[in-house]
Amino acid sequence: MTVHEDTLLNQPTINLGVAGFGTVGTGLAKAIRENSAWISRRLGKVLHIHTVLVHDLHKKRHFIPDPDTLFTDDPETFLNTPDIDIVVELIGGTGLAYDLITRSLARGTSVVTANKALLAEKGPELFALASKHNTGLYYEASVAGGIPIVQTLKESMAGNRIKNLLGILNGTANYILSEMTSRGLDFSTALNMAKAKGYAEADPTFDIEGIDAAHKLTLLIRLAHGQDYPFSRLAVEGISKVQAVDITLGGEFGYELKLLAHVSSRDEQLQAGVFPAFIAKSHMLAKVDGPFNAILLEGNVVGPIMLYGQGAGDLPTGSAVLADIMALSKEGCAPNNTGFLEPVLPPANILDPLLTSSGHYFRFTVQDRPGVLSALAGIMGQHDISIAQAIQKQTPTPEQGVSIVFLSHKALLRDVQKAMDEIARCAFIMAPTVHYRIM
Ligand code: NAP
Ligand code: HSE
Repeated sequence: MTVHEDTLLNQPTINLGVAGFGTVGTGLAKAIRENSAWISRRLGKVLHIHTVLVHDLHKKRHFIPDPDTLFTDDPETFLNTPDIDIVVELIGGTGLAYDLITRSLARGTSVVTANKALLAEKGPELFALASKHNTGLYYEASVAGGIPIVQTLKESMAGNRIKNLLGILNGTANYILSEMTSRGLDFSTALNMAKAKGYAEADPTFDIEGIDAAHKLTLLIRLAHGQDYPFSRLAVEGISKVQAVDITLGGEFGYELKLLAHVSSRDEQLQAGVFPAFIAKSHMLAKVDGPFNAILLEGNVVGPIMLYGQGAGDLPTGSAVLADIMALSKEGCAPNNTGFLEPVLPPANILDPLLTSSGHYFRFTVQDRPGVLSALAGIMGQHDISIAQAIQKQTPTPEQGVSIVFLSHKALLRDVQKAMDEIARCAFIMAPTVHYRIM
């Protein structure tokens, strides 16, 4: 008998009930199989996938956790299986997943989940329930897949005030923008490539409209600031309207377009949102290409820290789920669900998004005639927007007008919107103005 087998035989077992055995569920099972001896050495316990809940019992499975793992398609059988120590919710959505999590917590069973949509919408209720029953509700895999950002904010940076957080939190959107940038592709071609590679869902709305990134940002705001920022109040803008021409023009000024999730604190107020924005090509986040994720944090004690890695996929996400299971399996591990003493966090003190300030990129499509440039510049000036750089470009046909691009110094979003409203009413404007922030 090897040392490994001897170790496993003498160790108590942690029985896992895994609801959902798709991409992440399978990745978790593979990780447990691959590293079983290593896990036992750290825990002094053996992790065993006891029961698995799936939708279709007849689906061909390429990987089975253990010969004695029980597969069921009945949520009641799953919930009533005795001796489950930890429930792992990997189904997704806000229906059955909600029922499984609430019922498990209410009877005192800790839960690990990767479900950012559910935690973004129902987090306060679920964390309060977990706290009431002194159970753990852990969710490392919910944000940025394999990147250990939840633990970093909850534990490693717990002594810091997070002044600024800027993240690339959606791999599909980052892949699409990377392909548009490096190959000059249009949005729909790059989206089809993301689908072909398996990054984008069949319905990619959450990925491309910024909703998935906003779900994740909601969780990060809670962890970083100890405040509940309602998902419904986040300013969210996706990438589905991004045109290749703006990526090219921004590139000429030394910028790259990224879908960014951002929260910062100013005078005890939080400004937060998800939007496509230009960042300098020399910025560390500009170097994050393809389906990768990254988060740049600025702590008031430690300074800047950047985490980078795979934000999705079976093994990266399985790795994060496994870390939570192991944390909950340790003796004497107190559930610490929100990262703060309060089970229910106070509401966020939200800064009106219109009062946020940054640089701005504008592309106007205008008639090519005398006085247009000065009229545009005049309206900008009247609204306190100072132009930093400008160029004019011909469009393919004169009937389409010409493109005038302005880059501004820092200006309030409120003033930018007022200026754009006024400009939209000018007779020389031939197409809607394109605007992005410069971070
Ligand atoms: P997935 O591949 O679609 O797998 C979903 C699993 O849930 C499948 O096994 C499915 O059963 C089961 N299921 C669905 N509806 C069910 C029902 N009504 N009753 C019983 N079982 C049901 O999903 P996934 O990509 O693994 O994602 C799971 C969760 O992880 C989601 O919350 C997702 O947002 C999150 N997440 C995913 C990733 C990623 O890279 N995929 C990364 C981070 C977080 P069948 O196998 O029988 O169809
Ligand atoms: N759909 C997500 C992404 C992965 O593209 O990043 C799961 O969080």
